[in-house]
Amino acid sequence: MIDLTVNGRAERHDGDPAMPLLWYLRDSLGLTGAKYGCGVGLCGACTVHVEGEAVRACMTSVGDAAGKAVVTIEGLDPAGDHPLQKAWRQLSVPQCGFCQAGQIMQAAALVATNPAASPDEITEAMSGNICRCGCYQRIHAAVRQVVG
Ligand code: FES
Repeated sequence: MIDLTVNGRAERHDGDPAMPLLWYLRDSLGLTGAKYGCGVGLCGACTVHVEGEAVRACMTSVGDAAGKAVVTIEGLDPAGDHPLQKAWRQLSVPQCGFCQAGQIMQAAALVATNPAASPDEITEAMSGNICRCGCYQRIHAAVRQVVG
C-alpha cells in the first residue's frame, strides 16, 4: 500500500508499486493533463512535480512517489491562473496542445527555483521538452515574460 499526496489530496495506491506514476495519475485518478508521448523519458509530455522537482511520470513509479507530494497541471493553480498559464494564454502558445501541460510543469519548476532565469537558462531547462508543432519560440517567450 502506497500513500502519497496528489494536488494536495491524500491518495492511496493498493496495486503494483512499479506502476508508472503516469498510469496512476491518468487511469486511477483521472488526471489526464500529463500526457503519454514516448514512454521512455525523452519527450517531456508527462512532466509533473514530485516534491517540487520536475520529473517524467512515465519513468517514475508510484512507489518512487511514496510519501511524497505530487503536483500535476490540474493542481498547479486551481483557477488555471498561474503566471505561466496567463502568459501561455496571452501569447497563444499552444498549437495542437499535446505537450503543453508538460511544458508548463517543466517551466514552473524552473520559475520556482530560478525566478530570474536568463534566456540561456530557460533554453537549457526546457531543452528536454519536445514540441512536434515547433512552438519553441512562443514557449520561450512566455517563460521569459514570467521571469523577466
Ligand atoms: Fe514521459 Fe515522453 S511520455 S518523457
